[in-house]
Amino acid sequence: MQNLPEISSSATPQEILKLGVETANGPVKLACSFSVEDVVIIDMAKELGLPIGVFALDTGRLNEETYEVADAISERYNVKIDWYFPHQEAVDQLLKGKGTFSFRESLENRHECCHIRKVEPLGRALKGLAGWITGLRREQSVTRANLAPIELDEANGGILKINPLLEWSEAQVWEYAEARRVPTNRLHREGYPSIGCAPCTRPVAPGEHPRAGRWWWENPEHKECGLHRR
Ligand code: ADX
Ligand code: SF4
Repeated sequence: MQNLPEISSSATPQEILKLGVETANGPVKLACSFSVEDVVIIDMAKELGLPIGVFALDTGRLNEETYEVADAISERYNVKIDWYFPHQEAVDQLLKGKGTFSFRESLENRHECCHIRKVEPLGRALKGLAGWITGLRREQSVTRANLAPIELDEANGGILKINPLLEWSEAQVWEYAEARRVPTNRLHREGYPSIGCAPCTRPVAPGEHPRAGRWWWENPEHKECGLHRR
């Protein structure tokens, strides 16, 4: 179990990132969904010379555009992306038993699909790590209101969870991304502020909540896939 460092409320994302990686004092990887937040973190880590790895969970239902960003990132930053995939037998069983869109039928079915395609592979991705980094931001959701920039992730064996962009607004993230010309998912410019799996994400109308397009048939308090259990 790690000890948490003191952290000033005015700490910058770069300070949080550096402090988090130093505190973990062991292997740390970014969980990368190729959102603008995640790419900004890769850019910051490269600028700071921090030795972090990058992993991505390929649910089998991602958009083509997401793979394009993955390629652009590998090229620009010379990073190797460690891809994790769901167990094929579990996916086969789900599809044969419940069909291709079972997640639309009930919250239970949706959690089942997210568990097979995201949560179980996440457990494998975190094995052996002292910490992981995410692109979570507080303003994204009611479910993210109580996070801390550096926390002990009890749900994943007490390793460190580092959320450097926690206090940043969407505008701050884009300001950085544009100033540094980081590669971004073109779906962001087509009305998708938040991008997950293709069948569970749709564009939002101007003025709608940025996560309104994620699992749009569910209530806001249910809009988590289990990656960020507390
Ligand atoms: S989700 O829980 O609703 O799917 P969201 O898309 O907001 O999460 O992403 C929040 C953070 O979770 C990302 O910045 C990233 O750190 C992590 N994350 C989400 N999806 C993935 C994925 N497929 N692979 C790796 N990390 C992911
Ligand atoms: Fe399945 Fe949708 Fe969850 Fe992706 S977001 S794992 S398709 S339920």
